[in-house]
Amino acid sequence: MFQHLTRVLAAEIALHKHNKVNRRGIVSPNAQQFHIIHDILPEKVFKGLREAANLLQSSSVREDSNWRKGQAIGGHELKGSGLAPWLEHVLSAAFQNRTRKATDIETLALVPEADTNRISLLFYGGQAHPYPVSTAADTDDQGDGTDWHMDGNIYLGDRWAGILTLVEDTGDDVSKLELKPNGEIATIPRAGLENSLILFQGDHVLHRVRAMASGERRVVMSLLFSDWPVRTLNPWLRRYQSKVNLAFYGNSRR
Ligand SMILES: [Fe+2]
Repeated sequence: MFQHLTRVLAAEIALHKHNKVNRRGIVSPNAQQFHIIHDILPEKVFKGLREAANLLQSSSVREDSNWRKGQAIGGHELKGSGLAPWLEHVLSAAFQNRTRKATDIETLALVPEADTNRISLLFYGGQAHPYPVSTAADTDDQGDGTDWHMDGNIYLGDRWAGILTLVEDTGDDVSKLELKPNGEIATIPRAGLENSLILFQGDHVLHRVRAMASGERRVVMSLLFSDWPVRTLNPWLRRYQSKVNLAFYGNSRR
């Protein structure tokens, strides 16, 4: 018990410090690695999931639903959507094992269901598309535009962002998502991007999503993992996350 409390307290202090300094570029040199897992889902499953995401987007446009303004659908809403039957594949042991093998982290797991950022769906489109050019962040929590940025972390363990690309219909040879591990831009080829999962520590590696050109379209599922997915008890950090969720998904649920 005492040992556990000591570990939690140490992690809380480390997390508080990390979130204070990471935006100034003070990050761990040991957290700069990223991984691309190709063909993460069986092809049939991937196609079904992508189809469901496309349908969700077109029906939300028709119904003029709240989702339109954010272009982001959080985990709580996804559960009641047409995408729900496909989520089990992302939650499966097979999927989890691929992420653990790639990172070599045995305890890597999705964050708890209570966190709307656990699984979310993000739509990006150019001007010819019904959606305006995205101003949302690529992942989950910042709502801070597509320019180079660092995420915040509210989990005691290491935070891993996972981007599962469903559609990358662009005129570029490289991914719209760019990472800057060790301060150098690492571009990711567009070929093979669909049905791949990009895993990176977005609170240690600067990243951005380049602007979409007219007619381009991108749909990704954003996943949030941690090797110790216990949320901070720090009330300031939690309130911050709640505000960001409100701006991003239109609800403040965490
Ligand atoms: Fe981000």
